[in-house]
Amino acid sequence: MVCLGNICRSPLAEGILKSKVSKNIKVDSAGTAAWHSGNLPDKRSIAVAKTYGIDLTDQRARQFLVEDFDRFDYIYVMDKSNYVNVCKLAPNNEAIDKVELILNESHSGKDLEVPDPYYGGDDGFENVFQMLDEACNKIKDKLENA
Ligand code: 4NP
Repeated sequence: MVCLGNICRSPLAEGILKSKVSKNIKVDSAGTAAWHSGNLPDKRSIAVAKTYGIDLTDQRARQFLVEDFDRFDYIYVMDKSNYVNVCKLAPNNEAIDKVELILNESHSGKDLEVPDPYYGGDDGFENVFQMLDEACNKIKDKLENA
């Protein structure tokens, strides 16, 4: 799960998917930027997840690494800017094929983006949670039927 800062959207995506799939499926998140590396998720992400019984406080932000193309089968990005920045690091076409806008799982082919809630109000985080929850239900089905 990849966003820009790895403190708002992708920590929520990581926590939501982890809450749905078995523990032997490795779920992680990262940011294309390193600004917040080592930090806890944004307190607004922590708060909205908590209202749904999901704890994000064991997460710490990290930057997306080239090695992640080898470590993961699926790389879900939140928006088109993340898509471009991740694909810039891809060593080959096989790596690029792993990268997908996460909302294409719930809204196939529409290329919708998860809006960046960082500069907005708390309702933006609830909205992001609902979008990611819907997409993660589809991802769970995909992984469990793979
Ligand atoms: P995220 O949100 O990419 O969903 O983690 C942001 C977090 C921090 C910043 C921008 C977006 N920032 O500019 O610091």
